[in-house]
Amino acid sequence: MDTLINDIEVIKTKKTKIHDVDFDNLSFGKTFSDHMLECDYKDGKWQAPKVVPYAPISLDPSAKIFHYGQSVFEGMKAYKDENDNVLLFRPIDNFKRLNISSKRLAMPELPEAYFMEGLKALLKVDSDWIPKNDGSSLYIRPFVFATGKGFHASPADEYKFVIATAPSGSYFAGKVKVLIEEKYSRSANGGVGFAKAGGNYAGQFYPTQLAIEKGYQQVIWTDDNTHEYIEEAGAMNIFIRINDTLITGPTSDRILDGITRKSIIELAEAEGIPVEVRKISVSEVVTAAKNGTLKEMFGAGTAAVISPIAGFGYKDEDFDLPELENTYASSLKKRITDIQTNKSEDPFGWRY
Ligand code: COI
Repeated sequence: MDTLINDIEVIKTKKTKIHDVDFDNLSFGKTFSDHMLECDYKDGKWQAPKVVPYAPISLDPSAKIFHYGQSVFEGMKAYKDENDNVLLFRPIDNFKRLNISSKRLAMPELPEAYFMEGLKALLKVDSDWIPKNDGSSLYIRPFVFATGKGFHASPADEYKFVIATAPSGSYFAGKVKVLIEEKYSRSANGGVGFAKAGGNYAGQFYPTQLAIEKGYQQVIWTDDNTHEYIEEAGAMNIFIRINDTLITGPTSDRILDGITRKSIIELAEAEGIPVEVRKISVSEVVTAAKNGTLKEMFGAGTAAVISPIAGFGYKDEDFDLPELENTYASSLKKRITDIQTNKSEDPFGWRY
């Protein structure tokens, strides 16, 4: 049931931290705004959400999040335009995906008004925390996790929904070198790869550490069955340009339905770029790298928007991508960020 919340209680912090923040030198996700939204699920229903001072959360040691990993999250950004309008990008899509993720982990779904009105109440209180400099934004992290107690391996009976925010600069400093994974996988058919479950990211850390030891920054995930098909790039979706065609894998049980991914597909098509959503094999990419038709590879996600790839390693061989002057990565990144920040028209109706 979608109850509308008229008045969200706001408990304001006694002392703002905003004067300690250097908004010209923001890193990603390390500084947190003054407030957060908090909403508990108990007795079979979501309780009234509240905006409260940003603070640690105290949990019982038997809370099921610690043992069985019931935890899902979203990544969003808020921007301010020249006239100080606060802007979001396709927020309802994040709301829907949070519930898709929750359902897969046997967690309760949120009513839309709790998510949207809660988010708006939080952004209203912390609107001074939304950076205006180019390339910066207020990164928004909505998440739901199991607070219910007990060691029994079954879904918790209590949960918490929180939205925390962090004024942030870019996610990566520059281009990244990636390693195509031959052994580990991030997801499998019938698994949770399509969900933004915390555990999906935990499972990536060890293979990524091994790749870092070999001199790469990220792993290119391949399918769990054959490791012959390219699926995602680190914590992002992946796009590959061969000649003039932009290719990305189809969403599935294993591939996240990224909001940046689907926006890029639509934008590229609107720009007249040939786009193919299809399986793409490692051997096709290696062949294209060898014969010079591989022009670009980039990751796409909310945090980094578009993250160009400088080169990749595969089976002890390294391949460099060409240094092009005009890339799809830079023109599509500009198109999408101009729409997000109200620097251009939004023919798609994505800006909120
Ligand atoms: C995002 O792009 O927002 C993501 O979810 C990646 C995240 C793990 C930083």
